[in-house]
Amino acid sequence: MSRNFMAARVRSFGTSIFTEMSMLARQHGAVNLGQGFPDFDGPDVLKQSAYNAIATGKNQYAQSQGEPELRRAIAEHAERFYGMKVNPDSEVTVTTGATDALFCAMQAFIEPGDEVIVFQPFYDLYVPAILMAGGVPVAVTLNEPDFRFYPMELQAAFSPKTKAILINSPHNPTGTVFTMQEMMMIAELCQEFDVLAINDEVYEHIIFTGATHRRIATIPGMEDRTLTISSAGKTFSFTGWKVGWTIGAEALQTAIRRVHQFTVFATATPFQYASADGLRLGNEYYAELAADYQARRDFLMKVLTNAGLEPQMPDGAYFIIANCENYNRNPDEFSRWLIEKIGVASIPPASFYLPQAEVPSYVRFTFCKKWETLEAAAVRLEKLTL
Ligand SMILES: Cc1ncc(COP(=O)(O)O)c(C=O)c1O
Repeated sequence: MSRNFMAARVRSFGTSIFTEMSMLARQHGAVNLGQGFPDFDGPDVLKQSAYNAIATGKNQYAQSQGEPELRRAIAEHAERFYGMKVNPDSEVTVTTGATDALFCAMQAFIEPGDEVIVFQPFYDLYVPAILMAGGVPVAVTLNEPDFRFYPMELQAAFSPKTKAILINSPHNPTGTVFTMQEMMMIAELCQEFDVLAINDEVYEHIIFTGATHRRIATIPGMEDRTLTISSAGKTFSFTGWKVGWTIGAEALQTAIRRVHQFTVFATATPFQYASADGLRLGNEYYAELAADYQARRDFLMKVLTNAGLEPQMPDGAYFIIANCENYNRNPDEFSRWLIEKIGVASIPPASFYLPQAEVPSYVRFTFCKKWETLEAAAVRLEKLTL
């Protein structure tokens, strides 16, 4: 028998719950409202852009920091939506999805022993990315029922060892959108403790009536200490293209580029051109995207309410948290039971929390699905009775 070749730093990671639940859903022919990617394609015009890029020879390695065309489009988009003045040459780096941007950021900024604050529940790759850089995750909880943080808890999380805070607004899995006041609170603490803010804004355009997305980078004093991360996957419904980016001061980009050049080096060239065209779509595209998801949100909210799952109304992103306490099963048992007996897949929340945390009794459903998928799920969920 050979020895265990697996490095200690990855031994604790396990298989992602998304893979596990999707496999179980396939086995039982369940409607999959678990994994958060659309089961429909984005705009035809962007598919055409990608075909055109391939047909016109945009097929070799892209520039490592990203094709100038896309970096310019990212800078224009930042000015149009947030009034930011961004230098596309020195203040933007294109990455292979937000995933690569987050990994690069942790490798670029975190020294072994540095503390990184994360809001719990968190997107499941945050903690592994921190750990792979040798960092120490420090969690601040977003508390039920409305999933907001207690200012005192946030304040207590900051220490001289804090190097960065990882923010995700609009938030996966809860749909919380931080208010200006909450962003200001974070910004003040970042300045007091000389901390870097990393804001994952992949859902920046999936935002519902009554909420406004705030970019922490635009708060005075945060310009040089914020790395804004976003991607084309959610905004244009092409998650498989894996085009993402970081926006931030030149000194931050220099560090990011050092990692990016030695991990993936460059991101798929034709999809960079198509994403540039996407970012230049008119304001009506963005308004329709949000309105369309809002209609799907409202539909699923009603279905989950009727099923006695007491869903929490999200202000952004495309997930709904539903309480499974009434069904007298823990979230893990409930989501397996829901797949096997009712035929609908959701995601239990354990992987969104640190191992020592008390995990609340809810599951996450997504509504980034075709109407027919949501309607099929609704018919099945009607069978749920308390
Ligand atoms: C909060 C959050 N960040 C990052 C990502 C990954 O983005 P990308 O597909 O661009 O790598 C996701 C995807 O689900 C996400 O929900």
